[in-house]
Amino acid sequence: MDKERAQGFMQKVIGDVGTAMSAALVLVGERTGLFRTMAGAGPLSAEELARRGGVHPRYAQEWLGAMTCAGYVEYDAASDRFTLPDEHAIYLTDPQSEAWLLGLFSGLPSIMAVIPTLADAFRSGAGVPFTDFGESLPVALEQMNRPVYENRLVRSWLPAMPAVVERLQAGGRAIDVGCGTGVIPLVLARAFPNARIEGLDLDARSIAIARAYAEQEGLQDRVRFVNASADALDREPGYDLITTFDVVHDLPDPLGVLKRIRGALADGGTYLMVEPKVDDLLEKNRDVPFARLLFAMSCLHCVPQSLAQGGTGLGACWGPARARELAAEAGFSHFAVLQVRSPAMAFYELKA
Ligand SMILES: C[S@@+](CC[C@H](N)C(=O)[O-])C[C@H]1O[C@@H](n2cnc3c(N)ncnc32)[C@H](O)[C@@H]1O
Repeated sequence: MDKERAQGFMQKVIGDVGTAMSAALVLVGERTGLFRTMAGAGPLSAEELARRGGVHPRYAQEWLGAMTCAGYVEYDAASDRFTLPDEHAIYLTDPQSEAWLLGLFSGLPSIMAVIPTLADAFRSGAGVPFTDFGESLPVALEQMNRPVYENRLVRSWLPAMPAVVERLQAGGRAIDVGCGTGVIPLVLARAFPNARIEGLDLDARSIAIARAYAEQEGLQDRVRFVNASADALDREPGYDLITTFDVVHDLPDPLGVLKRIRGALADGGTYLMVEPKVDDLLEKNRDVPFARLLFAMSCLHCVPQSLAQGGTGLGACWGPARARELAAEAGFSHFAVLQVRSPAMAFYELKA
């Protein structure tokens, strides 16, 4: 027994528990608006934060202590004041910004709540259906991705496929499969007023929310949301663009759906498959923070909900080599990894 190694591991585990506990308080900071109150305000005492943020001073004091130990907030002992540095605030305060990271915390309560069911599923091999993750999961998933989708899809990602942009400008047809609450179809509808846009998802609640968003924006006549399984994808009259964002690994039959997507493309149409960005080799993912997040999410949510649909549970962390193989198996003649900068997402362009 290497005592130093054992000690080091103990410290790591305690740090991990501290991180998990702090995550709950980060969510409290988000819901109470305390990060926003601190942003740009300079050094504040706990009383000042409590007053400005409209929270009880005792909670403000304890929260600031926890956020200081978690490394989110800086503390100056001489003045007994706390600062949220600008370099932290950019990630914590503006839900419209693509830098916003607090959305990543949104799914934690739903996922934590499913632990007893998941532990039983580990033993039985059963799945955990999407709906068992609770009513709030569709919007939590949306919050994880919305700012990046809204800021990047039209500005950076589609320009990597100029022919797609031309077709949509000219009034083409696009569908986002596994659209969740409809962020991608709505962004497309806003950007391409002549195009016919659809979103499809198996989860009825997600589709109901997507339809409500479309109505709020007055886009209900331009975007059609369908509550159906991906294997119900229409073959006619052919789509110029089919997208899946963070979906293929969740499907019960990824190969079958890829074949269907191939069959549903118009002549010269493009399938954009966006999947979590991981290395093909587990050993290369080991010390990568994003990979740690993605592997955990895969085991907690992606695999169990795929198994619940009678699927194989591909898992979110399947890497580009297997994506290329699956594309070839589904009969796609073209597969390219798009040179799009993203720390978390891999962009695959497929053509029939
Ligand atoms: C991780 S979420 C991604 C949602 C959205 N595309 C995004 O990027 O935020 C996966 C989505 O796939 C949907 N899904 C899972 N299995 C499906 C199936 N068999 N057919 C259609 N949609 C499915 C889920 O309901 C969920 O909305």
